[in-house]
Amino acid sequence: MRIPILVCALAYAAYSFANGPTWQRDVAASSLPPQSVLVDPSSFAVMGANGSFRPSAFDSGFNPTGTEPPFFQIFDQAFLKVLGKAPSLTEIASNDTFAFAHEAPIYVAALDSVFFASNDGGALGNSDIDHNNKVGRIDLKDLPAHLNGTAVNIPVAELDLPQSIQMTNGGTGPYRGNLLLITSGRGPLPPSIALVNPNPPHNATVLLDNFFGRQFNSLNDIKIHPTSGNMFFTDTVYGWLNHFRPEPLMPNQVYRLNPETGAVRVVATDFDRNNGIAFTGDGKTAYVTDTGAQGGFLGINQTQPATIYAYDVDPTTEMFANRRIFAYTDAGKSSTGIPDGIQVDTAGNVYSGCGDGVHVWNSAGDLIGKIFLGTTSANMAFAGPGRLVIMAETKIFLAEIATSPSLFSS
Ligand SMILES: *[C@@H]1O[C@H](CO)[C@@H](O)[C@H](O)[C@H]1NC(C)=O
Ligand SMILES: *[C@@H]1O[C@H](CO)[C@@H](O)[C@H](O)[C@H]1NC(C)=O
Ligand SMILES: *[C@@H]1O[C@H](CO)[C@@H](O)[C@H](O)[C@H]1NC(C)=O
Ligand SMILES: *[C@@H]1O[C@H](CO)[C@@H](O)[C@H](O)[C@H]1NC(C)=O
Ligand SMILES: *[C@@H]1O[C@H](CO)[C@@H](O)[C@H](O)[C@H]1NC(C)=O
Repeated sequence: MRIPILVCALAYAAYSFANGPTWQRDVAASSLPPQSVLVDPSSFAVMGANGSFRPSAFDSGFNPTGTEPPFFQIFDQAFLKVLGKAPSLTEIASNDTFAFAHEAPIYVAALDSVFFASNDGGALGNSDIDHNNKVGRIDLKDLPAHLNGTAVNIPVAELDLPQSIQMTNGGTGPYRGNLLLITSGRGPLPPSIALVNPNPPHNATVLLDNFFGRQFNSLNDIKIHPTSGNMFFTDTVYGWLNHFRPEPLMPNQVYRLNPETGAVRVVATDFDRNNGIAFTGDGKTAYVTDTGAQGGFLGINQTQPATIYAYDVDPTTEMFANRRIFAYTDAGKSSTGIPDGIQVDTAGNVYSGCGDGVHVWNSAGDLIGKIFLGTTSANMAFAGPGRLVIMAETKIFLAEIATSPSLFSS
């Protein structure tokens, strides 16, 4: 089976280099960066009557060259700038029996460590209504000096957290030296926003656990606005859809918390199932992902959103206005053909964790490339300039690339 795939890939590459627009021919001539593959959009624009059309965005990724993951998939020359001249993409931690690296990636530069949470209520998460999920940490100084795509497995340390932290699903920061975690709650225990000391004894201070006395559904993700310092967060129904929270009692919405006054309000509504959130570096644009197509125990429905919306952030009220579609994702495997966590780099490129890896769009919303893992990523964090640490459930990958993060981008 491998030979035909290779022949196909070569024939495909030859076709795309010979017929592609000028820049693709230039790139082919001057050789691609390591671990990367060029996929010229014109090469698959027409598949014909006998084409191998994909029946679902949820059962396979889009990998027309049949390249063995992980690799960089280039659709547009703008992605070459993101990758730089000598990128690498390497699996750096793994555990086949435990989805230890699902969400809430936070890079703490002072420790050169990345913190993250295991899957809450989903596959291989080892967590449910009776069992909390885990927050772990890797130290990037444990990595070998030169990574080249050959997998390594650095140790993961588990944090011993206070009982107030239940089912961590998102995080950002560091905020005033602390991890800023957002939790989905568990059973009757309330979803919350909390500061957690990244150092032992990992003590926590809960900043919010209700909306005027009512529990949130299951809080999901959080970012700090880069100019106002207010906290913006999403509330959605996945705690219920993953069997560890009661039936929801409020709409799925985006809220703002003023951390100085404790005041909380809604800034955006009318979602199917809102999920990740991010701001551009200037704070003028907000992105919110909607993963409605993934319905937990309700199943998958491909006619529901797998969508990133963009908004203008009103400079006075910080309400999210002028919602428009930024991107709809094509991808790609197991149960998650949806864009989940989302980050923005200093050049305004947008990264989102999808079913086959990390998709990257330029600020205009063109899909310029993928960090193709062949497996699901729910989120990622910039770990200082040129390093992107990617959560992939049972694995963590490090992409060494050229871009650097926007303020508060984790
Ligand atoms: C599609 O496949 C059928 C059956 O093998 C063949 O008869 C037909 O010519 C093919 N059509 C095209 C456009 O290749
Ligand atoms: C992998 O995760 C399991 C929990 O499912 C744990 O018992 C085991 O120690 C982990 N293995 C490694 C190598 O960390
Ligand atoms: C990468 O480095 C490892 C260990 O240094 C080496 O064994 C391997 O052959 C290298 N792989 C490539 C593709 O250069
Ligand atoms: C942890 O405890 C120390 C010592 O009491 C305190 O100064 C710090 O604010 C606490 N951090 C959090 C996040 O609660
Ligand atoms: C899928 O979603 C659409 C739009 O919400 C709805 O009309 C349709 O009934 C759903 N299909 C299934 C099988 O649930």
